Amino acid sequence: MPAHSLDEALLHRALELARQGIGLASPNPCVGAVIADAHGDVVGTGTYTYAGVKHAEVLALEAAGNKARGATLYINLEPHAHHGRTPPCTDALIAAEMHRVVASMPDPNPKVSGTGFEKLRAAGVHVEVGRLEEPARRLNEAFARYIRHGTPLVTLKSAMTLDGKIAPPPADRAHDTSAGGFSGNWITGELARAHVQELRHQNDALLAGVGTILSDNPLLTDRSGRARRRPMLRVILDSHLRLPIESRLVQSAAAERSNDVLVFCVSAEAHKQQQLEQAGIRVENISAVDPDGRPDLRAILRRLGELEITSVMIEGGSNINWTALASNLVDKIFLYYAPKILGGTDSIPFAAGAGFKHMNQAAQVKQVHLHRFGEDFAVEGYLRDPYGE
Ligand SMILES: NC(=O)c1ccc[n+]([C@@H]2O[C@H](COP(=O)([O-])OP(=O)(O)OC[C@H]3O[C@@H](n4cnc5c(N)ncnc54)[C@H](OP(=O)(O)O)[C@@H]3O)[C@@H](O)[C@H]2O)c1
Repeated sequence: MPAHSLDEALLHRALELARQGIGLASPNPCVGAVIADAHGDVVGTGTYTYAGVKHAEVLALEAAGNKARGATLYINLEPHAHHGRTPPCTDALIAAEMHRVVASMPDPNPKVSGTGFEKLRAAGVHVEVGRLEEPARRLNEAFARYIRHGTPLVTLKSAMTLDGKIAPPPADRAHDTSAGGFSGNWITGELARAHVQELRHQNDALLAGVGTILSDNPLLTDRSGRARRRPMLRVILDSHLRLPIESRLVQSAAAERSNDVLVFCVSAEAHKQQQLEQAGIRVENISAVDPDGRPDLRAILRRLGELEITSVMIEGGSNINWTALASNLVDKIFLYYAPKILGGTDSIPFAAGAGFKHMNQAAQVKQVHLHRFGEDFAVEGYLRDPYGE
């Protein structure tokens, strides 16, 4: 195999290892490392997990032992040169007398970006940066947003008909709250819904308005079946604590004592707050409100950042969707479409509110990717650059 193809294949392997850290590395980045000797044979690998503490390259070095001398490290992110929870990885690589480091991208943390590469180069290690940069940047886009701004990456997800309706008119719905509201009445099919579980697994938190709980009675849990270090935080915006005690959301938190439901309100009736808290729900009064007197989304994102939430997926209804779009806080969208048409002025549109008044004010989606799920499809794209300002 030509040298550049071998480099790419081993870097792909490092990225695959890094992906195994999804759900396990946050609030730190997903990192995978492969060490290969002069013949291109793999002599050590590593995946970073937060609970495992040791960095991917250190795990790979430990597996390689003496074979690391003169070898090449393949890694999706710049090795760090500073003291954090662990000593600098660059020191370990230099001490092991590595010959070369092939990395996909610099550390997105502006405070340390480039320092690892500098240190390695100063010690005579050959450093190459930039191969497979695009998938590497995507993998750690939540970390990038979080480490640069202290707030989570925001994904707006919704499932709708071809004509942009997220639900039929409220009164016309076959509603069975005991079975989870919408079961049997899903817009999209099984394949698309299974993919939503994958997205939930990638996110530290899910966010919805109380309207969604009242109408659909959803659980809002990560049912991907994959391991995660922390339970996915279920965040509900609920100005006056209308959240029903008997909802599946509250009952599931109460039964599991999972401490994974956080409700933001602006005024709370003391007895209701006490009831919710006794059921294991965290309630926070938020002083920052929007012009309609509801919890302010920007302030909530700052609070989630304080809680080390690096990514949040909004899975609410029309009102939350519009709030998120209008406040310009959405990084990316994942919109699922089923080949159905509901029509009707009373069906629920994707986004309520005033809407953007002119076409040149419309939210512009960039870097659009299409995904097929049987008869359904999804549009993935960016409203702003997670690596930008
Ligand atoms: N197809 C889908 O993907 C999907 C997903 C979810 C929901 N839905 C559908 O959406 C419909 C429910 O829509 P919805 O608009 O009532 O649900 P929602 O957007 O999830 O919740 C709206 C409620 O959240 C509260 N809220 C608190 N802070 C807010 C803020 N900053 N901005 C906006 N709202 C805030 C408001 O109630 P307070 O004023 O009392 O706080 C508001 O009425 C249902 O028909 C449901 O089936 C569809």
